[in-house]
Amino acid sequence: MSTRATSSTHHLLLLLLSLSLLAQHSLSKEANCNKDDRRALLKIKKELNTHWITSYDCCDWGGVFCDSPTHPHRVTAFVHQYVNSPSRIPDAIGDLPYLTEIFFHKLTNFSGTIPYSITKLKYLKYLDISWVNLTGNIPDFLGQLKSLTYLRLSFNKLTGPIPSSLSQIPNLSFIDLSRNKLTGTIPASLANLKGNHSFQLYLSHNQLSGHVPDSFAKINFFEIDLSRNMLQGGLSILFGHNKTTETMYFSRNMFEFDMSELQLPKSLAQFDISHNKIYGRIPEAMTDLELQAFNVSYNRLCGKIPQGGNLQTGFDYSSFFHNRCLCGAPLNVTCK
Ligand SMILES: *[C@@H]1O[C@H](CO)[C@@H](O)[C@H](O)[C@H]1NC(C)=O
Ligand SMILES: *[C@@H]1O[C@H](CO)[C@@H](O)[C@H](O)[C@H]1NC(C)=O
Ligand SMILES: *[C@@H]1O[C@H](CO)[C@@H](O)[C@H](O)[C@H]1NC(C)=O
Ligand SMILES: *[C@@H]1O[C@H](CO)[C@@H](O)[C@H](O)[C@H]1NC(C)=O
Ligand SMILES: *[C@@H]1O[C@H](CO)[C@@H](O)[C@H](O)[C@H]1NC(C)=O
Ligand SMILES: *[C@@H]1O[C@H](CO)[C@@H](O)[C@H](O)[C@H]1NC(C)=O
Ligand SMILES: *[C@@H]1O[C@H](CO)[C@@H](O)[C@H](O)[C@H]1NC(C)=O
Repeated sequence: MSTRATSSTHHLLLLLLSLSLLAQHSLSKEANCNKDDRRALLKIKKELNTHWITSYDCCDWGGVFCDSPTHPHRVTAFVHQYVNSPSRIPDAIGDLPYLTEIFFHKLTNFSGTIPYSITKLKYLKYLDISWVNLTGNIPDFLGQLKSLTYLRLSFNKLTGPIPSSLSQIPNLSFIDLSRNKLTGTIPASLANLKGNHSFQLYLSHNQLSGHVPDSFAKINFFEIDLSRNMLQGGLSILFGHNKTTETMYFSRNMFEFDMSELQLPKSLAQFDISHNKIYGRIPEAMTDLELQAFNVSYNRLCGKIPQGGNLQTGFDYSSFFHNRCLCGAPLNVTCK
């Protein structure tokens, strides 16, 4: 044999060897994906028209993750980001029993409701179905998702009330239902959630009415946004010296209370109560805060704007204008 022939045989052998390694590799990977999960995913593929290559291991399909150390080869996260033809959340999502995270975000051509099958997901911690034009009510059955900690259904077309069943989810501590068409009152039972120490609640841009429930006094919010609703009454129960709230957004409602009496948490950094019917004075303690956002415009406030902190240096007249009789910098009105 010439050296040349030897060399090409050698190459061929190498090639065959790597091909067989590749084949073995994909075979073993094929075996990686749980058969039941694969079956459910194939139904999902049909519904969502995903471009998964079925000869690959389903744990390698785009948006499918199998990364639980305790349940190897099971699908634990599903992230859906592309929609070509009109679609909705497939029922088969409930047949991936080890899912901990579901993410449907910013999908055009998407609509429909949240399927009941989702209640089968005992381990689901993180549910994000946002910017997808979901319709219908927020279903009561979400209360059955006992492992849930994070719920985001913002930027949809959801109607009807906020179900009080959400309070049956023990560790839920992040709720974002903003930018929908929700009506009715805020359920008092939300205060029973265990996450009441660092609760994040976003309900802005809805049509919610009534008062903020008294039970909310015991919640120590991290962030709360109730802007752009039709809420009324007072807010003093949300305040308190020993709370550690950082963000409070209440603008564009019909809140009506005496601002002078608010006990400001030292942690408060973002504060917007613009466009309400709030009266009284701005508390002196406002100057002790490290405010990053501040707006009390379009209310019925009076008296001298406290001088100090970053009230004058951080904000211009537009944070204070359109009140009954506020005076002092940064407004162009001298106090008499
Ligand atoms: C939405 O679906 C329709 C009908 O299948 C299709 O013609 C259109 O291109 C899709 N739009 C987008 C943005 O994918
Ligand atoms: C939701 O529907 C409206 C029409 O009602 C459409 O303009 C908008 O693009 C849709 N949004 C998404 C994310 O598909
Ligand atoms: C809630 O959180 C605690 C502490 O992390 C955990 O021990 C418990 O199992 C969780 N409960 C549920 C229903 O997931
Ligand atoms: C938070 O909620 C739990 C459960 O309802 C309750 O036991 C606890 O006292 C609450 N924490 C505060 C600070 O109110
Ligand atoms: C604030 O702290 C005091 C003393 O620790 C406590 O007695 C009181 O219940 C707390 N108030 C609130 C609203 O948590
Ligand atoms: C305060 O809110 C008013 C009313 O929405 C707005 O016009 C103004 O620009 C805001 N100012 C700041 C500093 O955000
Ligand atoms: C403040 O008052 C002065 C004097 O009256 C006036 O020239 C100026 O335009 C006012 N500035 C604003 C922002 O209103």
